[in-house]
Amino acid sequence: MRVDLHGSPQTMLATLYAKALDAGAPDSVLNDTWARDIVDRIDYDWSSTTITTRNAPSVTLRSAHFDFWTEQFLAAHPRAVVVHLGCGLDSRFLRVQPGDGVDWYDVDYPQVAALRERFYPVRPGNHVVAASVTDPAWLADIPNDRPALVIGEGLTMYLREADGVALLRRVVDRFPSGELQFDAFNWLGIKAQWSNAVVRRSGSTLYWAINGPEDILESVPGTRLLQWVPVFESDVFDRLPGVYRMMGAVMNRIPGARTMSQFHRYAF
Ligand SMILES: C[S@@+](CC[C@H](N)C(=O)[O-])C[C@H]1O[C@@H](n2cnc3c(N)ncnc32)[C@H](O)[C@@H]1O
Repeated sequence: MRVDLHGSPQTMLATLYAKALDAGAPDSVLNDTWARDIVDRIDYDWSSTTITTRNAPSVTLRSAHFDFWTEQFLAAHPRAVVVHLGCGLDSRFLRVQPGDGVDWYDVDYPQVAALRERFYPVRPGNHVVAASVTDPAWLADIPNDRPALVIGEGLTMYLREADGVALLRRVVDRFPSGELQFDAFNWLGIKAQWSNAVVRRSGSTLYWAINGPEDILESVPGTRLLQWVPVFESDVFDRLPGVYRMMGAVMNRIPGARTMSQFHRYAF
């Protein structure tokens, strides 16, 4: 089948392709065979994503990082709600295999949600929400009788700051307790978006610069910092080929570059 996506929905084809390229490689990070199968079924010029086996780890290692944090949360909260914001065609539900006590909601724009429903068979406990994450309406239908993990990978930078903050505040107000986990770009990541080929080619715009945890702690009452890791300092980065690690070492010396991309984790 052919797909025709523009703007931020198109960017999930790049992350999907990165996971597909990684699957089955001898040193595979995620071994996401679902991504590989979906890529095989979509008629698309995958080379236009600009993803190659060389740069795929920058995506797959990020996903592995959030899989790990997700697993940690689910180990502590076997009865939980997971809200996976801007999920794209990511197979996290299948990779982490939550137990029966978990209700998992994959949220993305209707055109992406329709693709999800087409490529992923219905599984008990896994629900798809076809909506913009910034639409306040859908959250009212998510059960709020359990701790919630709200996770957004490759999402916050596409939101306008006011919309992103409002979303996080709504989530914190809705659930009795839980965690927020997401990655973010600082001011430099937003300013340098012209250099991000995936973003540029999709015609999307990055808006929300999060410069550190204080931006969230100050604007989203009720949050408590659990972990904050600049990507260049994460365990993830250590697993990349030497050329990336060298680049990381250089970036760490440039003001603003060290925190260009960061992983955030809060309790609420
Ligand atoms: C870079 S992709 C990441 C996809 C997935 N999280 C992954 O890591 O493979 C960004 C995703 O965010 C989604 N997205 C961006 N803004 C959104 C919004 N306001 N509402 C719902 N989804 C949104 C896009 O449709 C796309 O699927």
